[in-house]
Amino acid sequence: MTRERLLKAFPNLTKLTALEEYLWINTSKGKKAITKNHTLSMEAILEAEARLNRFAPYISLAFPETERTNGLLESPLLAIDSFQQSLEEYYQVTINGSLFLKGDHLLPISGSIKARGGIYEVLTIAEKILIEESVFSREESYEKLIESTYQDVLSRYTIVVGSTGNLGLSIGVMGAKLGFNVIVHMSSDAKAWKKALLQQKGAHVVEHDQDYSLAVEEGRKQAEANVNSYFIDDEHSTTLFLGYAVAALRLKKQLDEKGITINRDHPLIVYLPCGVGGGPGGIAYGLHQVFGENVTCYFAEPTHSPCMLVGMMTGLHENIHVKDIGIDNRTIADGLAVGRPSGFVGKVMEPILGGIYTVNDETMYKLLAMLIDQEEIALEPSAVTALFGPVQVANSAKDAVHLAWATGGSMVPTNQMQHDYEIGKALLN
Ligand SMILES: Cc1ncc(COP(=O)(O)O)c(C=O)c1O
Repeated sequence: MTRERLLKAFPNLTKLTALEEYLWINTSKGKKAITKNHTLSMEAILEAEARLNRFAPYISLAFPETERTNGLLESPLLAIDSFQQSLEEYYQVTINGSLFLKGDHLLPISGSIKARGGIYEVLTIAEKILIEESVFSREESYEKLIESTYQDVLSRYTIVVGSTGNLGLSIGVMGAKLGFNVIVHMSSDAKAWKKALLQQKGAHVVEHDQDYSLAVEEGRKQAEANVNSYFIDDEHSTTLFLGYAVAALRLKKQLDEKGITINRDHPLIVYLPCGVGGGPGGIAYGLHQVFGENVTCYFAEPTHSPCMLVGMMTGLHENIHVKDIGIDNRTIADGLAVGRPSGFVGKVMEPILGGIYTVNDETMYKLLAMLIDQEEIALEPSAVTALFGPVQVANSAKDAVHLAWATGGSMVPTNQMQHDYEIGKALLN
């Protein structure tokens, strides 16, 4: 369809083509049936959690920084009262309840939400190959995987992935440690420092001068041409999705430990930055399984890359690209610079998601600086979009627990962070 016909068929799209910050409420929430199949279910999430637990003794040995958590890759739940106060004052809103930050920027190994799904899928592939090659069984101690004999077996296999950066980093680091060859196809939006870091970690980087969807396509084609290659499919992988979903079980435990009960009168509202959709989708699905109707999730997207919003609002899902309606897909939020959403995720989200809001680059810079000033927490632009959720959705619930999912930032070089901070500071003043 041409741009004109799309805008005529879906007049609401003009809210997005205006590039203004916008909140879309999903009116299908609670109406359609929740996807129930063998691949996606509470049982499947529990199975994923069990697999991560099996690998924990190996991870603890392979990555000494995870010894403290016995090889479990988990992030802290942080109160950010001082930031909440500043946010309320600056935007003149009242947030009913308290605001927390889920600190995935501090996840060990690769410092972003993508570590959850990416590392989980690499472990799943490694386990499958070693069992099929009859050199390992699930009953053995996973600590043994540190031995070079297993790396020799896995070095005959290649993992291929398309990424804006953080997924590639998670898969690159974990894959290289286990012995795999890793090839990461990166889009033009990927930051130079992410490419350099990946190469330094032993992954082979293929640069594309086109956007993320095309980088993924190239990766898929290359993997299909080689029998010993596994393609990690950010758009369609239910394995990645389940890796992300495990976060919900862990969050429940963290809330319990803090004595926070989630119920009808004290609901949980979660704000998740969204690129292609797998990370936020997996977590939202998991949270819905754990907390049912007492949780509402919102996705955050850049005003210049609102792919999931365009896909869900029109029901066209992966069959529409933001460029089809004249939106350029150019934003400082490199992790969210995705023009075409995952149709798989969009359809699973239809009965679950509360809505999607958009954030412009200027707001991202401001939130980045405000969080550093108030809490000394430095996040990358993609991640700070979560912090705008309470401003957009603030008055919709009484005494809620608001949770902004901080999806990345600890790996950003200091000079880059300083640069972004200074822009944000100037905008705030
Ligand atoms: C920092 C950050 N936040 C959020 C996302 C969004 O995840 P997804 O693309 O799975 O929606 C990404 C993706 O790379 C990211 O790097």
